[in-house]
Amino acid sequence: MASPSDIWSACDYAPTAARLQPVSALVATQLAQFVESPATVADIGSGHGEGVAALLAQGYTVTAIEPTGRIRESGQKHAPEATWIDTFGEATGLETASGDAVTSTFGTMFCDPTKGPAEWARILRPGGMLMMTAWNQEGFLATMTDAMNDAIAPDRSTQTPPHMAWGVDDVAHERLSPWFDHISIEHLDLDWSFESVEEGMQLYRGGSPTHAWMADHAGTRREALWTALRDHLEAHADDSGRIHSTTGYALVTAQRRRDTGR
Ligand SMILES: C[S@@+](CC[C@H](N)C(=O)[O-])C[C@H]1O[C@@H](n2cnc3c(N)ncnc32)[C@H](O)[C@@H]1O
Repeated sequence: MASPSDIWSACDYAPTAARLQPVSALVATQLAQFVESPATVADIGSGHGEGVAALLAQGYTVTAIEPTGRIRESGQKHAPEATWIDTFGEATGLETASGDAVTSTFGTMFCDPTKGPAEWARILRPGGMLMMTAWNQEGFLATMTDAMNDAIAPDRSTQTPPHMAWGVDDVAHERLSPWFDHISIEHLDLDWSFESVEEGMQLYRGGSPTHAWMADHAGTRREALWTALRDHLEAHADDSGRIHSTTGYALVTAQRRRDTGR
């Protein structure tokens, strides 16, 4: 089975990191509403460090958890003041109750949905904050993912995969409630526009590791995958060829229970 590092190393991550940057910035400013600096934050799935830099700018002491070597090297260059560690969000190795906050921009959503929340609760002090984002089922990415999955596996199960289920309120509540209370889920939109269909094709072929990896492993369905993407982009283009679109995500905030020794 492919490891997360294999998948996330499949191509350059920088174009996707740039698109997600407004969400990383939002997480840092939102966290500042709840957790005063100086404070200790563990950021999970830190990528190229956009969110880490935003957290450092708020005055936090940041440990950045990033298991993909190729991505971590870029992150370390971008935000060298953080402590970068090569580990997973389900087994961080950080000390119990050592953190004031755990943050993640589209990183914790890829952790095991049972082991992950237990580990984030373990490393947080009682009353500490979890703030994470995950894609929901709204907008460009959700419908694009369906179209691409249909192209490579038309008979696949229609069950939502575990990482996408974080965007379903009841599921997120169920996963977090053994460890967290004051769980709040806000659904927001991120601009997902393209100057042209070609720009969209370039992002997914060479700037989005999960899609590059999917194509590399699609065998004879590889071209059908890219055709499905092109069709999806063309369906969203206006008369000038530009694509004005948004994609939805959930901003999940929760507080580590004070009343459980679990
Ligand atoms: C969509 S990227 C988000 C990166 C960054 N937070 C951002 O907003 O650009 C997901 C990141 O999570 C990392 N990742 C995947 N599985 C992980 C896991 N189990 N634990 C920690 N990080 C993981 C990947 O290596 C990748 O860098």
